Amino acid sequence: MIFQQGVDSLARAESLDRFASGLQGWVRRAYRAAGRTGSRLANALYGTWLGHPFHPVVTDIVVGTWTATEVLDALHALSGRHVFARCADASLLTGVGAASLAVLSGLTDWQHTAVRPRRVGLVHAIANMGITLLQATSLTLRLLGARRAGRALSGLSYGVLIASSYLGGEMVGKYRIGVNRAPVDQVPQQFVPVMAEHDLPENQPLRVEAAGVPVLLVRQGDRIYAMHATCTHLGGPLPQGTLVDGAIQCPWHGSRFDRRTGRVVRGPASFPEQCLATRVRDGQIEVGPPSGLGRCRHEPAGATVPEAAQAVAAPAR
Ligand code: FES
Repeated sequence: MIFQQGVDSLARAESLDRFASGLQGWVRRAYRAAGRTGSRLANALYGTWLGHPFHPVVTDIVVGTWTATEVLDALHALSGRHVFARCADASLLTGVGAASLAVLSGLTDWQHTAVRPRRVGLVHAIANMGITLLQATSLTLRLLGARRAGRALSGLSYGVLIASSYLGGEMVGKYRIGVNRAPVDQVPQQFVPVMAEHDLPENQPLRVEAAGVPVLLVRQGDRIYAMHATCTHLGGPLPQGTLVDGAIQCPWHGSRFDRRTGRVVRGPASFPEQCLATRVRDGQIEVGPPSGLGRCRHEPAGATVPEAAQAVAAPAR
């Protein structure tokens, strides 16, 4: 309770804003200066290739390996058997490697946050950088023969890690950073008409509602594509975005989603967008349930029912 009150006052601390915005600017400039390589690195650290944020994957490894280090250190102290010391060093080293990746991926995600999550995330990041340095120092001390000092430093770092993990949980649980913001469980259960076909312009995303679900529609050539209208990253309005190289680009932080499958083409989003099936009946565009992620039917606007059914059923060559 007292700890939570401390976290809440941290979130209200406007004094952190100047430093936070300076650091965010630095992270963005660094990625921009790295050009295409920076963009590839950022996508890797966001987890766009994984379809899931990368940060929690590596933080799990950090917590797991450093917990193992504590247990192995205790076993070594109790038994004196050197094998425990060697295993403790190995898990500590693995944790330092994973923690370096966690710091990088965390900073990459954090650059897009604002106000309260930005303040909490800043303290979380600084604590994690400090812990990583302490653990690297502990490893060096152990290798130099000062095992007792190394163990003490690891114990101290582990305590700070628990507190910092709480801040990480606050970022996800309270501020919903790193969660899918699209209404994933809301899809129309059957085809419903949403608008007249001739009213949908070419290459211009439009927002409609299908059975109460906000949906983005876009026409390209003779195909009409549909997907959830809310960006999976931080909930940006995709229909206000643009079509870039065949992908829908979010107007907030520039994530791009493949118009046909909803797959993330460019981060910061890591979760794919749910695509929906479309068809045209009696001059009306209808939006319906997907047959599975990345398997959405988009019948040609002018197709008759049998033709479209044959096209969908035809095996890929
Ligand atoms: S809300 Fe961040 S990219 Fe869409």
